[in-house]
Amino acid sequence: MDRPATARGWVRSARGNKYVQFIHINDGSTIKNIQAVADTNKFDEETLKRAGATGACIEVKGILVQSQGKGQSIEILAEEITILGDCDPEEYPLQKRGQDSKDKKPVTLPLEFLREKAHLRTRTNTFGAIFRIRHHMSFAIHKFFNDRNFFNLHTPIITGSDAEGAGEMFRVTTLDLHNLPKTPEGKIDFEQDFFGKETNLTVSGQLEGELGAMGLGRIYTFGPTFRAENSNTPRHLAEFWMIEPEVAFYDINDNMNLAEDMLKYLVNYALSHCKDDLQFLNDTYDQELIARLESVVDRPFTRVSYTQGIEILLGAMTSRKFEYKPEWGKDLQKEHENYLVEHFNGPVFVTNYPKDIKAFYMKLNDDGTTVRAMDILFPWIGEIIGGSQREEDHDKLYRRVKEMEIPEESLWWYLETRKFGACEHSGFGLGFERLMLFVTGMTNIRDVIPFPRTPKNAEF
Ligand code: 4AD
Ligand code: MG
Repeated sequence: MDRPATARGWVRSARGNKYVQFIHINDGSTIKNIQAVADTNKFDEETLKRAGATGACIEVKGILVQSQGKGQSIEILAEEITILGDCDPEEYPLQKRGQDSKDKKPVTLPLEFLREKAHLRTRTNTFGAIFRIRHHMSFAIHKFFNDRNFFNLHTPIITGSDAEGAGEMFRVTTLDLHNLPKTPEGKIDFEQDFFGKETNLTVSGQLEGELGAMGLGRIYTFGPTFRAENSNTPRHLAEFWMIEPEVAFYDINDNMNLAEDMLKYLVNYALSHCKDDLQFLNDTYDQELIARLESVVDRPFTRVSYTQGIEILLGAMTSRKFEYKPEWGKDLQKEHENYLVEHFNGPVFVTNYPKDIKAFYMKLNDDGTTVRAMDILFPWIGEIIGGSQREEDHDKLYRRVKEMEIPEESLWWYLETRKFGACEHSGFGLGFERLMLFVTGMTNIRDVIPFPRTPKNAEF
């Protein structure tokens, strides 16, 4: 067993006595630290002091041995210690603040405090765990689709259209804001802008994704999307990542099956590939986390129509007070989503929403009032996925574009695909950070993306 080894990383903590110093080092690869054991006779006091400072970056060369102590199976007997980067304990904001007097567990720093220290928070156990899980989830998404013969299509970040029609876009321009060029009518002359027209950051890769599916069959996008909605909630970001598959010849039921398979695959993947990190989050923040993850993978998701959903909510009003009265034709509120998830004790698909509360591209049902939409509501999260079968009939789609007063010139290419070999197709969007909330049990979306962008916040 004994063999020479080198450990490099950041010091998490150190303790010791006159004879020996134990230094816990972490290099980010796992939640587990490695313990370096330094014989105080071998090193000068100054080196031990610098190497024992929480946050310092050090290199320890020595012999890897079976550990004598409790809490770790191996440790490194230090022969050489190099300080790669000092860390002043007086100034380091992530200095451990002692132990909880009751259960002797180390005190975890408050998440709100760590949000202000986003440049350093990857050094903590919590954010190490979260961002490792984030990596594994990202990899698993590519694997899921690749294994099912989907192609990853890179859709543009800068666009001239508003896929969701909600008008929540960040403008992209190189015009001088202090000296805007004007047309003879006194309007801003966007012909002089970089792209010769108005452009913005994309809210969704879907429209271009559909173009991909009409040639490649099955595609998915996985990119950043941007929404200038002023929602300061624990579930909204101004910049978030979205996974959007789009599949030719799929109807709404195929689409639901794909979404359910994908979510179960991803949760299973986390359970089997992120055990230590999930256990840490379970023990530290949320004792029901792992049980909740296990509960979604082994049962079919419930499927109800929007109309059935409203009936259930109205029926619940005898025993449950809602702030907003459920009403056919209105969007489901967070409290309504929560109720449905509770009522069915697990994930719920809600389908066939009224056309007036959904985007223009969704396929109109024969009733003329509802569309073939599907949202998935998740325990803890609310809406995690939104999707639909797409309207492939040119004239019906065109009518919706007109009814909703969407500028036709920004979408002519989308409409044109309905003239040249259109077919039934469907897709959906999974908010990556909403998935991350579910998988990690975190309660604020700002804690599952390394550098969150929210109203009045783009610091790091
Ligand atoms: O329901 P949405 O708006 O659907 C679309 O964008 C479609 N184009 C998707 C498609 O059919 N290809 O957004 C999809 C998902 C939501 O269910 C939610 O999980 C997430 O994206 N999402 C957000 N996540 C974080 N912050 C925000 N502001 C979000 N807005 C939507
Ligand atoms: Mg939605």
